[in-house]
Amino acid sequence: MEHVTIAPSILYVGTPVALLATENPDGSANLAPMSSAWALGQVVVLGLGAEGQTAANLAERPDLTINFPGPDHWPAVERLAPLTGRDPVPASKPRFQYEPEKFAAAGLTPAPAELVGSPVVAECPLQLEATAAAVRRDAGEEFVIVEARVLRVHADPDVVVPGTQHVDPTRWSPLIYNFRHYFGLGEELGHSFRSETPRVWRSAPSKGL
Ligand SMILES: Cc1cc2nc3c(=O)[nH]c(=O)nc-3n(C[C@H](O)[C@H](O)[C@H](O)COP(=O)(O)O)c2cc1C
Repeated sequence: MEHVTIAPSILYVGTPVALLATENPDGSANLAPMSSAWALGQVVVLGLGAEGQTAANLAERPDLTINFPGPDHWPAVERLAPLTGRDPVPASKPRFQYEPEKFAAAGLTPAPAELVGSPVVAECPLQLEATAAAVRRDAGEEFVIVEARVLRVHADPDVVVPGTQHVDPTRWSPLIYNFRHYFGLGEELGHSFRSETPRVWRSAPSKGL
């Protein structure tokens, strides 16, 4: 395989979209789409622009919810895309507009969480309640890195293997942000040796038979 050297302006190689609900100074909820998130055990590490309202909220008030929309929710996510909860809009966000009512602007529904003050997004099949255990600047001072400790997980029963604690990967499908384009997942290709929900008849590697 021959490769060319390129200088892409973004490196979003395809990660799930999450909607972060955080608490504004006046107690109202902010809601922001993001995709720079990954899980380490029960901690989700979040990468946030330092000038956004979400980063400002988490530096002062640790309660948050991390909500995972499915592929059908991409228009609601994109309605949030040009909005910020920061007033005035920072100079670094020239194409953004201030919006204090993000849930209404997106057409999404806030519902009370059980352990934290920030609401969950009712339409999202997976909702994590969490607390920001650490909030720090990145080495370049441009971003904020948040370690969000997950306190409780809520799942639509349709994506849970009945009678277990497992999410069924054949029923749950995240919304993927792939170089600023939205995708769902394709068919299952296989599973990790550590999977607790294997579908051996579908995903065993082919032996060429
Ligand atoms: C699909 C999608 C993914 C995004 N991923 C991130 C991200 O990982 N980190 C981030 O800081 N901003 C990300 N953004 C941009 C934020 O949503 C944007 O900066 C927004 O203004 C933040 O809102 P806030 O200022 O109210 O916090 C993403 C936007 C979209 C639409």
